[in-house]
Amino acid sequence: MRIVSGMRASGLLHLGNYIGALSNWVNLQHEYDCYFFVADWHGLTTDYDDTAGLRLYVREMAIDWLAAGLDPQKCVMFVQSDVKEHAELHLLFSMFVPLAWLERVPTYKERLREQSTRELSTYGFLGYPVLQAADILIYKGEAVPVGEDQLPHLELTREIARRFNFMYGDTFPEPQALLTKFPVLPGIDGRKMSKSYDNSILLSAPPEEVTRRVAAMVTDPARIRRTDPGHPDVCTAFTFHQVFNPGEAERVRESCVAAGIGCVECKRNLGSIVSAVMAPHYERRAMYSGNPSLVSDVIHEGARKARAEAQRVMAQARDAMKI
Ligand code: TRP
Ligand code: SF4
Repeated sequence: MRIVSGMRASGLLHLGNYIGALSNWVNLQHEYDCYFFVADWHGLTTDYDDTAGLRLYVREMAIDWLAAGLDPQKCVMFVQSDVKEHAELHLLFSMFVPLAWLERVPTYKERLREQSTRELSTYGFLGYPVLQAADILIYKGEAVPVGEDQLPHLELTREIARRFNFMYGDTFPEPQALLTKFPVLPGIDGRKMSKSYDNSILLSAPPEEVTRRVAAMVTDPARIRRTDPGHPDVCTAFTFHQVFNPGEAERVRESCVAAGIGCVECKRNLGSIVSAVMAPHYERRAMYSGNPSLVSDVIHEGARKARAEAQRVMAQARDAMKI
């Protein structure tokens, strides 16, 4: 089965990205024919007026992928803008995708409402899911590992494939979502882990930052004295225990509700656990950061492989459309 997925290059990756998507990709590469790409064009759809960080984000993302264990021998990893066929297929799709399909995408409506600082009534932003459909279908992707928020985009991808096949003849599969079952990791303040809240633990930060940020994490707000019993279910540190230390989480819960452990000590333990789990990542990261030509080689080789496949499918699509 052919798997395709991408990550938008709109910032540096954090622990939440690692837990939610990246570690899942690393497992998938052993079982499936995987294409993973850094979606730098998608980064432009919202941040077109601030591209200063874009190259850095692309490069650091590739480094994090390698450090997390993506293996260029086992999967094709590349940068979207290196394979121009994504753009050509996007253009062809744009000819027959009705505006109404795009205007009703929930992520589109929400972002328009949320984002007041930037003009987002742009052509590119509305067409975001059309480009995503091209990203997937240019490799005839059959399954797409994504979070729940991406389901409407996948549905649209299937509709585009269906319409293309109906008008021009059978060419594309209708890709399915492979839902990631991992919990969403909150930021250290308990809100969603996000660049704009400055509450994340970056994969590119120095490893000591893990301990520092874990120590600064919010806990049960009702637990004021050390002797007060805690409520782990409202504690951000406990959520991290469940993710990074599942075997011991129940024991942590018991000592928390019995006031057998203080929050400072509990977070100190958590800091060591998260650091230990992430240690191989930080070590490999340092190796790749110190070896830029190795990273460039991986990206170029990935683009070469992806391009060969994209050109093959693009030729079929042009043929079907009589171009
Ligand atoms: N829209 C995806 C996200 O924000 C990123 C993405 C772009 C993507 N193209 C894709 C994901 C193709 C899967 C397949 O997470
Ligand atoms: Fe959270 Fe641990 Fe404090 Fe309980 S003891 S509230 S789990 S930090």
